[in-house]
This record gives sequence, C-alpha cells and structure tokens, in this order.
Amino acid sequence: MAEFDYDVIVIGAGPGGYVAAIRAAQLGLRTACVEGRETLGGTCLNVGCIPSKALLHASELYEEAMGGHLTKFGVEFSGVKLNLDQMHAEKAKAVKELTGGIEFLFKKNKVTWLKGNGRFTGPNTLDVAGQSVTAKDIVIATGSVVTPLPGVEIDQKVVVDSTGALALLKVPEDLVVIGGGVIGLELGSVWRRLGARVTVVEYLDQILPGMDGEVRKEAAKLFKKQGFEYKLSTKVTGVTVKGGKATLTMEPAAGGAAETLEADAVLVAIGRKPNTDTLGLDAIGLKVNARGQVEIDHDFRTSVPGVWAIGDVAPGLMLAHKAEDEGVAVADNIAGHTGIVNHDVIPSVVYTMPEIAGVGLTEEAAKERGEIKVGKFPMMANSRAKTNRDTDGFVKIIADAQTDKVLGVWIVASLAGTMIAEVALAMEFGATSEDIALTCHAHPTHSEAIKEAAMAVTGKPIHI
Ligand code: FAD
Ligand code: NAI
Repeated sequence: MAEFDYDVIVIGAGPGGYVAAIRAAQLGLRTACVEGRETLGGTCLNVGCIPSKALLHASELYEEAMGGHLTKFGVEFSGVKLNLDQMHAEKAKAVKELTGGIEFLFKKNKVTWLKGNGRFTGPNTLDVAGQSVTAKDIVIATGSVVTPLPGVEIDQKVVVDSTGALALLKVPEDLVVIGGGVIGLELGSVWRRLGARVTVVEYLDQILPGMDGEVRKEAAKLFKKQGFEYKLSTKVTGVTVKGGKATLTMEPAAGGAAETLEADAVLVAIGRKPNTDTLGLDAIGLKVNARGQVEIDHDFRTSVPGVWAIGDVAPGLMLAHKAEDEGVAVADNIAGHTGIVNHDVIPSVVYTMPEIAGVGLTEEAAKERGEIKVGKFPMMANSRAKTNRDTDGFVKIIADAQTDKVLGVWIVASLAGTMIAEVALAMEFGATSEDIALTCHAHPTHSEAIKEAAMAVTGKPIHI
C-alpha cells in the first residue's frame, strides 16, 4: 500500500491550483485538488477575470450603441435600452461554462476534487471537511482576498468589493471607487458606460501604480475624457450608509481639512492580500512574510520540505497567467523535471477601452539601471486604428542603449492586450528593437505600431 493517499495535493482550484493539479496528473502523479467553493476556477473564473470581462464587453457594446458611435459607420437604429438582468445572465453563462470546463478537465485527467476547505494538521497531512488526507507533496494555491479598508464596512449592497460590483442589480447614479488601480478602472468603466457618474478616490497622486509614468498620465487623460472624475492624493476615513445612500468622509493624504462625498454605491478596490488565515500554517511551522505572502525559492519550495506555493499567495504580480505558469512549473519540479517561470517577462493588461498593457521594465525603472533608448509611435498614425476610428494611445519600446535589447514595452491601444503577446515572446527570445523592426508585420494591423515604435528606437519610423 502506498505511504500517502496521493502523490500531490493542491490546495485551491484557481488558475494556479487547477493548472498545477492537471499538469501533475498529466505527469503521472496521483493528484487531488482541495477546493472550498461550489465551483472550480478560483477568483479568476468565478468572481474575477471572467465575469469582469463579460461585463466589460457587454457594457462596451451598450455604450457603442447608445452613444451613437455606430452611426458614423452607417449603422443606425433607435430604441436602444439596457436589460441589465440579461447582461448578468450572459455573464453567468460564461462563468458556468468555464468553471464546468475545469470540472470536465479534472475528470479527463483523473484529478480528484476534494470538496471543502483544507487545513494543515502536519507537513504531509490535511484536514478536509473532517477527513484526514495525506500526500508526499502539497501545493498551497489559496490565492488572495480583498484588502479591507478600516472604517469601511462592505455590505455588498451599497458598499461593495469587486464581487459585489460584478453583481449590482441597478446602475448607480453616483458611484465612488476607492482605489485608482486595475479593479477600480475596469469596474468603474463598466458602470460609467452603463450610465453612472464615477469618481475615483485615490491615495496617491496618480492612478495605476506600478505602470510606466507616461502610460499612467495618458490613461488618466483618456479616462477623464470619458467622464471619470478623480480625487487624487486623498484618503477615505470612513463611509456611513443611511437610507440606501453612502456618505464618504475624506481628507488630503498629506493631512488637511476633511470633506464629504455622497454616492449611491461605493466600490472598495484598494488591493488584494494573500489568503492564508484558515490554512493552519502554524501546524507546519510555516510563517508568512510582512506582506502576508508565503515565501518560496526559485523552484516554488517553501521553507517546509514537501510544501510548495504558487499564485497570488506567493510573492509577485497577482495575475492569473502568472499563477498558471507557476502551476505548470511547480508540477514539473515536483515530478523531478525543471519548471521555470521568467518573472521578468509577465505581461499586465488593464481591459479598459483603450486597453493598457505592459511587459518588462517601466522607463523610470530602466533609467535607474543604465542608459536606454526609447521609441514611441502614436496609434493616430497607424492606418488600421485610423480606419477603425480608435486612434487613442501609443506604443513605447524601451531598449538598452548599448545592446539594443528590449527591456520593456508599454501599449495604450484598443487591442493592447493582444498586441503585448508578440513583444513578450520577443523579450523571452532576448530580442533587440532592431529584431522587431526587421520583422514583417501584416498590413493593415494595429501591430504595425509595434514595428514602427521599434524603428523609432533608432529614430527611423516610416509613417510619422
Ligand atoms: P485564486 O484564483 O484566488 O484561487 C484560490 C482558490 O483557493 C479559491 O477558489 C479559494 O476558494 C480556494 N481556497 C482558498 N483557501 C482554501 C482552503 N483552505 N481550502 C480549499 N480551498 C481554498 N488577473 C488577470 O490576469 N487578468 C484579469 O483580467 C484579472 N481580472 C480580475 C478581476 C477581478 C475583479 C479580480 C478580483 C481579480 C482579477 N485578476 C485578473 C486576478 C486573478 O483573479 C488572480 O491573480 C488569480 O485568480 C490568482 O489565481 P490563484 O490560483 O493564485 O488564486
Ligand atoms: P491595485 O493594487 O491595482 O490598486 C489599488 C489602488 O488603491 C492603488 O492605486 C492604491 O494606491 C490605492 N489605495 C490603496 N489604499 C487606498 C486608500 N486607503 N484610499 C484610496 N486609495 C487607496 O488593486 P485592485 O485594483 O484592488 O486590484 C487588485 C489586484 O487584482 C491587482 O493588483 C491585480 O493584480 C488584480 N487584477 C488584475 C486585473 C487584470 O489583470 N486586468 C483586473 C483586476 C484585478
């Protein structure tokens, strides 16, 4: 009889955990995945990436129809109206199909789903819904949860987090978003398009922390043009709710006179924190770092032998594709192969309109490391963007001044999320800006702007 019930148990079935489990099973390991939710897929499929993109897509269609953008293309109609219930129903259908798809993949690959919450009772032992299960290797993939804001109680009706903001049953007249990060701008865009006046209250003096400075400025300008209001360098000190209305009290981040703001809905989106509270880490002597993350080495090993960690619960960007790649790599390592993730080349995308995407270093960070050259090309000069009337944004390529190696690429464009993939691939291959400039790009495509930005690194774009 085998020493352990399983070779591998993965705790959490988000993009990190379900991918790790499927890969481990593909590699011939007896694998189980513990998940407490009713459906597989984690934050991303249930209350994150997928439902938010469903609403972003649907609200964009509504705005295009309602705002008359289609008329200039000769598509005329009248009587446009919003059926929010139907919008939510279509979103729910996408979520159901995708989460069901993971269940299918578990069955196909013979991954056992252990339903319930997992808690360590020893290095190789978990308690799952009162049952003890053992494995030679255990992967922590428990993801992250919303960071609470002291003094602000989430009721998921008037004061919501991202999960509540994905399920509002009516369009608020005034929505205040606390936090000008990715969630604030994506979900703020959804409700603005559907008719809400949106004010973003941000603690820092700019939105989108961590992104390239020029991109942050361009994004702020474009969102302002779309109708977003900002209160920057401002901290919220409390929210009270009375009769279905919220009153926020705020003061300048640097201190000063308090002011108030009324809203029908408040979205709290000030970041997410690793999810380890009920995991029983004490039972195995595993400590989290100051940011609450489970520290790992290059191979995703924690300090406890046989215990590994990936995804949002571990250090690094809190992104689904980062978690997925770590899922494949950790399973490879557990099986005795070599699993590596290059954390220097993880693309980030904000799915607003235009989209905002980046990979590698910002111009500010690259400058700190040494001399650089920068090439920029505006979407205004790209023929396809001009034809489609979606000319907002630019492509910016940052290269090493001596070697010409591409260090970072930033794109603001309607298709930035798709365009960023080619430069991520180029960077993985160690490309120079000249390599990109000499690569034939199909015409007419938005991607030609990448080639032209690469040509601009050495000062010779054609179309500007
Ligand atoms: P998670 O997806 O959080 O999954 C962890 C799972 O573990 C959960 O299902 C949880 O129930 C389970 N779990 C936790 N503890 C236990 C336990 N003790 N026992 C059993 N199960 C447990 N990222 C992108 O890349 N692109 C996007 O467009 C995007 N959009 C987002 C939109 C929103 C609104 C939000 C909130 C996030 C978004 N993200 C996006 C981030 C993305 O969702 C996360 O980075 C990703 O889900 C992390 O994957 P994970 O596997 O580490 O954890
Ligand atoms: P975030 O870290 O992107 O932004 C949070 C913002 O809140 C920051 O600008 C921060 O300065 C601000 N802030 C913090 N405390 C504040 C306070 N007290 N008052 C006012 N502002 C305050 O976090 P967000 O938007 O909550 O998203 C969490 C994570 O989810 C993201 O970092 C990202 O990893 C992931 N995500 C990814 C998406 C994508 O890839 N498209 C979409 C949505 C989420």
